[in-house]
Amino acid sequence: MLKNFLQMKKNKEKIVMTTCYDATMAKILSQSNIDMFLVGDSVGMTKLGYKNTLSVTMADMIHYTSAVVRGTNKDKVVVVADMPYKSYEDNTQLAVENAKKLIDCGADMVKLEGGVEIIESIKSIINEGIKIVSHLGLMPQSIDKMGGYKVQCRDNQSQKKLLEDSLLLQSVGVSMIVFEGIPEQVAKFVTEKLDIPTIGIGAGKYCDGQVLVIDDLLGMFQDFTPKFVKKYANLAQIIQDATKQYSKEVKELNFPQEVNTYK
Ligand code: KIV
Repeated sequence: MLKNFLQMKKNKEKIVMTTCYDATMAKILSQSNIDMFLVGDSVGMTKLGYKNTLSVTMADMIHYTSAVVRGTNKDKVVVVADMPYKSYEDNTQLAVENAKKLIDCGADMVKLEGGVEIIESIKSIINEGIKIVSHLGLMPQSIDKMGGYKVQCRDNQSQKKLLEDSLLLQSVGVSMIVFEGIPEQVAKFVTEKLDIPTIGIGAGKYCDGQVLVIDDLLGMFQDFTPKFVKKYANLAQIIQDATKQYSKEVKELNFPQEVNTYK
């Protein structure tokens, strides 16, 4: 079931998205009033130990998207799969083939980073009836061009480009746009110019929805914490406390006990 996100925007009902990378978490989060799961290429950092998203492949995304779909209650949650670096940018046929592979895994929509530069790929994918989420502002697949993870759209020229790209993407049929790492007032201005919803991450409170990386939200990812992250739990600590206790009990011969033992 694809929710009516346009209607949610009209009704001013916020859209809630988290990343999700596996079936167990998808099962848990399917009961958490989350509207959308993003199988993000952030999986490169959160699960695969890479420094950034550039090493993530189509094979990785197929693997993780399939797992998330198996665990997701599709009556409640829409699954978006990221198209990884070099899988869509300058070859429309490859873009369509790869988008279809992710839809074949059970994803409802695919997400691509960029505006006018990749518009031919976007149009080709939409022509095949596949729904697209775009991603503008801080685009992690372009960190080399952007000189690192820096807030974007601080000057007039880049703000104008953000608006133009957003309107162009809407005009060709993109379903929603993720705005990452841009000033709140810029996100507000463009969001109000669009009929399609915007989902913010480090883009302030005026976007039509919010997305956070689940490992950040739960306090599992410890390498760095961007300003826009709120940790709603400290799972890293809970996991360490539990596993230290397990280790202690095994070493002191207190586990397993009678109750854990077959006779
Ligand atoms: O890969 C990802 O997690 C993302 C979010 C930061 C939006 O693209």
